[in-house]
Amino acid sequence: MTSDPRSPRLLGAIDSATSENASRHWWDTEADEYHEEHGSFIGNTTPGGEFVWGPERFREDDARLLGDVADRDVLEIGCGSAPCSRWLTSQGARAIGLDVSIGMLSHAVTAMAQDPEPVPLVRAGAEHLPFADESFDIVCSSFGAVPFVADSARLMAEAARVLRPGGRWVFSTNHPMRWMFLDDPGPDGLVVQMSYFSRTPYSETDSDGSVTYVEHHRTIGDRVREIVTAGLILEDIVEPEWPDDLDAEWGQWSPLRGGYFPGTAIFCCRRPRA
Ligand SMILES: C[S@@+](CC[C@H](N)C(=O)[O-])C[C@H]1O[C@@H](n2cnc3c(N)ncnc32)[C@H](O)[C@@H]1O
Repeated sequence: MTSDPRSPRLLGAIDSATSENASRHWWDTEADEYHEEHGSFIGNTTPGGEFVWGPERFREDDARLLGDVADRDVLEIGCGSAPCSRWLTSQGARAIGLDVSIGMLSHAVTAMAQDPEPVPLVRAGAEHLPFADESFDIVCSSFGAVPFVADSARLMAEAARVLRPGGRWVFSTNHPMRWMFLDDPGPDGLVVQMSYFSRTPYSETDSDGSVTYVEHHRTIGDRVREIVTAGLILEDIVEPEWPDDLDAEWGQWSPLRGGYFPGTAIFCCRRPRA
């Protein structure tokens, strides 16, 4: 009998609390190294920040997926050191950055010292947003919490809840087809290793068996379903192509792989008007 693909079996499931704890500790520990390696690419050192949607260097300044942000209330989920929220603020938005890791947020505090206006920051997990219903015109996330939470359907419902009618929820994450390949920027990263349909999370553990890092996979169908179930309209899935003039590798991301398949998917959703 063929199983229903809309009810995937979750082998080795890792629950929400375990995933959030692992992410908090991992990003707290890695925050300095992450910024040494990627700080300038993500715009952490740029006055006024920068909004980059992913390793293909697709910028909100060019893409305008969020629409007009001036004078809008904007929540960024998984803001890290908040280069995107800082950029939104420089464009006239009232932005708030939320992240689970104090280590990442402390880099935001340092970076903001050079800006005319600071961004309010909130430390919280993305599955329970500490905001009233209909607080924001726009909710966004650039490779923020989405791949790290166990219950991304709940995250979608939370984004829908805090959005005002007509508001946008736009988030970038690993393109689901990346799941099939090793995190290797070279030729070994072109060979299928893993079933696209396996929702067993990728995890790392320490010597005690505690989970120290976790990433959760959803197929394109899963994502569409969780967005629609949250009562949102999916308007577009943008798949930025690797630019000809971009030589920089970023971990598993490289011009070699970028020439063959997408690395990033940007889901553009909207809460219906009333
Ligand atoms: C790859 S970093 C991206 C940071 C930032 N958006 C950027 O572009 O540099 C992922 C961020 O998601 C945050 N994160 C992971 N799990 C989270 C959760 N459950 N709730 C909120 N933030 C989370 C991490 O702390 C980290 O700052």
